Amino acid sequence: MTNQASSVSGCVILLVGGSRRANSVNAAVLKTAGTLIPANAEALIYGGLSNLPHFNPDLDRDPLPEPVAHLRAQLRRADAVLFSTPEYASSLPGSFKNLLDWTIGGGDGRLYRLPVGWVNPSAHGGAKGAYQALHTVLTMAGADILGPACVNVPVPRDAIAADGLIADAAIRTIIGGAARALVDCVAERRSV
Ligand SMILES: Cc1cc2nc3c(=O)[nH]c(=O)nc-3n(C[C@H](O)[C@H](O)[C@H](O)COP(=O)(O)O)c2cc1C
Repeated sequence: MTNQASSVSGCVILLVGGSRRANSVNAAVLKTAGTLIPANAEALIYGGLSNLPHFNPDLDRDPLPEPVAHLRAQLRRADAVLFSTPEYASSLPGSFKNLLDWTIGGGDGRLYRLPVGWVNPSAHGGAKGAYQALHTVLTMAGADILGPACVNVPVPRDAIAADGLIADAAIRTIIGGAARALVDCVAERRSV
């Protein structure tokens, strides 16, 4: 039986946000998540959303566009992925859906078989359309959607402190719970 703490060592959680806005609530949620995972795991914030070209199967071959190669390299490093996205017009932001389109398929650097979760920070249990769409796309991608890592927690914009983190203890508990659920899942997989 492997000790859970040691089996998490080197575990990388990739944090992928769906907003391109400065001072994004979703980005703050993910940055906060990165501070709440166990010390022996590593949080990696994906920052290339704005650089990705529009998905085109004709471009999905070597040499890949550099931003796509970067995205897939980060996914190759990841043991699990945590998402947080705004909802636009009852669905996913186009730029974020574009990112997801680059992650579909069975090659390496995709979402296939990766444990995934999300934090939905929309107020009043909103953004149902976006997260339903995310569930659909992640299912199509063959990702392993981990229930305890999928949480709703309303996060007002003024909850973001000057350091870009969320200080509210109750919100942090929920965000940290989602991140830790992914780390625990990775540890469990490594122990079998
Ligand atoms: C063009 C536009 C459309 C939006 N549509 C929705 C919507 O359909 N449902 C919703 O709950 N919020 C909607 N919103 C609010 C965004 O989801 C909200 O601004 C977002 O959660 C903020 O996240 P961010 O700070 O990370 O960008 C919309 C915002 C914009 C700018």
